[in-house]
Amino acid sequence: MENSIVGVVGAGAMGSGIAQVAAQAGHQVILIDQNEQALERSQSALEKVCSRLVEKGRWTSEQSTAVQDRIQRTGDWSLLEPCALIIEAIIEDLDVKVGAFQQVERIVRDEAVIASNTSSLSLTAIAGKLRRPERFLGLHFFNPAPLMALVEVIPALQTDSRHIESALALMKHWKKEPVVVRDTPGFIVNRVARPFYGEALRIAEEGLADFATIDGAMRTAGFRMGPFELMDLIGNDVNYAVTRSVFEAFYFDPRYRPSLIQRQHVDAGWLGRKSGRGYYDYTEKTTNRDANHAESAWILDRILAMLINEAADALYLGIASAQDLETAMTKGVNYPKGLLVWANEIGLQEVVNMLDGLHARYGEDRYRASVLLRDLATEGKLFNC
Ligand code: NAI
Repeated sequence: MENSIVGVVGAGAMGSGIAQVAAQAGHQVILIDQNEQALERSQSALEKVCSRLVEKGRWTSEQSTAVQDRIQRTGDWSLLEPCALIIEAIIEDLDVKVGAFQQVERIVRDEAVIASNTSSLSLTAIAGKLRRPERFLGLHFFNPAPLMALVEVIPALQTDSRHIESALALMKHWKKEPVVVRDTPGFIVNRVARPFYGEALRIAEEGLADFATIDGAMRTAGFRMGPFELMDLIGNDVNYAVTRSVFEAFYFDPRYRPSLIQRQHVDAGWLGRKSGRGYYDYTEKTTNRDANHAESAWILDRILAMLINEAADALYLGIASAQDLETAMTKGVNYPKGLLVWANEIGLQEVVNMLDGLHARYGEDRYRASVLLRDLATEGKLFNC
């Protein structure tokens, strides 16, 4: 697949980034969008990126021209015919995506591999609607795709294993760090990271600490941003939608329950940086984010215990290997350490004690310790990662 033509459907933020990555790896790219303006925006965004890289001396002007020339932008789907791989990055709507895939299937050859960049839909459900489901899989890039190394490779239940192998090889050729994930809600990153937001919101909801104190506690531990500043950056509407979708997809498991505080921020239009106000006010010249550091170590302990529990449970359920779980959290959301290594350092029994303490206090299933975490702790073992 390394010298083949790549098709990308959807020229928004993700599709444009994926097209750039493929072009940088030497592929001819056909970038499709139904919206002419989206195609124009995509082109001018790439021009800007390329000229910045040339200015900084990272690329020669020949490299810049070559990358731009390799991408053909069009609304004509028939140009996808010679593509060996088609990656879809249109709106996150199952029916719209299925419609696009059916159109792609009518055009491309039988050997072509078809992928979706969906962040929340079931690949198995999409594959179930396709004529040849065995050549379909998920390739989940992170935003911005040219800068973020992680790609979650997600086979549907129906996917032929040789396509998984060739997708992994291709992503490495694209200088990405691919991990293999079972098709389950949130894949690795959007599942394992849920408590980073959810437990922080829960602590705030109970009035145990304010946003700045919680953010400060997490930053002190090496996270680049605290949960509230990060939710403000992502957008509360986007983050709330992901939480809701994971919660529903897990049949309302209380571990993933959304927060009323976040819902109210969405309802108020306090979406974060993009609306000028979220958990913090971005219209003020200096936003007061001074944390109250005194005695805030318990905040890290509590949120980290929940994150570790989520990673342990994903491992227990065979969602991904220990190594891939560690890669996903360090490369996909820049955690300072992999959660399993972190658990080994803290001591697994310590983490279990923390969870058992919360469980006893609240009497909620949300705080149940993963079977794997408890078993390893009891046997005095560590995670093998
Ligand atoms: P976007 O809204 O920036 O771009 C979507 C593009 O698809 C638009 O240009 C639109 O004109 C086009 N489009 C919509 N329906 C179409 C159709 N039927 N045929 C052709 N083009 C069509 O969206 P974004 O953020 O790029 O997301 C795309 C996909 O990637 C979604 O599935 C999203 O969940 C996923 N994703 C998004 C990430 C993010 O951080 N934005 C991260 C990882 C995955």
